[in-house]
Amino acid sequence: MIVITASTGIYLKNRNEVIDAQVKMIKEIGGKIKANCSSPRILIISNPVDILTYFFQKETDFPRSNIIGIASSLDSSRFRYFLSKKIGIKNSEISDAYVLGEHGDSMVPIFSKTKINGENLLEKIDSKQKEEITAETRDYWKSLRNYKSRSQFGIAKNTYDVIESITNNQALSFPASILLKGEFGEKDVCIGVPINITSKGVMEIQDIKFDESEQELFKKSAQTIRNNIQSTQII
Ligand code: 2OP
Repeated sequence: MIVITASTGIYLKNRNEVIDAQVKMIKEIGGKIKANCSSPRILIISNPVDILTYFFQKETDFPRSNIIGIASSLDSSRFRYFLSKKIGIKNSEISDAYVLGEHGDSMVPIFSKTKINGENLLEKIDSKQKEEITAETRDYWKSLRNYKSRSQFGIAKNTYDVIESITNNQALSFPASILLKGEFGEKDVCIGVPINITSKGVMEIQDIKFDESEQELFKKSAQTIRNNIQSTQII
């Protein structure tokens, strides 16, 4: 298994600030890995993660099930944290709280699926609280820039969990950036979707339905990623 955390530079306000250099870098890394390994498991942590996962996939043509961009699970951890603060409950009382879509400003917290002690979250919050939680989840990483200059412990924990699941054959469900081939109505884009790693180490995309407004936001998020892919000067 190879975990890619490489970076060409610092970005402060937007994960796409050094996108061209990052894409160039991931293509070079992809080329070298392809020359030396036949079908490795790859975890991509570097940003912009959806774009890099896409270009790595295109460069190597490895099976998509072996290439996982990790970030939506981090967004989901933050989502659970802000939910628990806002509603005044323990993190352990929250389940099925996924953030999908781009690991960026268009990310989509899936409120409609989230449960609090098994009950639907939507019965417990109003639209203003939803907006606040969405903004807090989306912008949390910027406050990390003020304190420590980079994201470390959260993403390390999320990545560790995935490595442990794959190496120890332990089933795990989490959202991650994967190349879609028609799932969720999208194709030829890497984007955060819910996946399972089975106890045999196989990656499967979960088939879940979210509500209409979330579907619309997810569609826009996929389009945002596609626009960014097209705007890179490297293609
Ligand atoms: C994070 O969300 C910067 O993508 C990194 O913490």
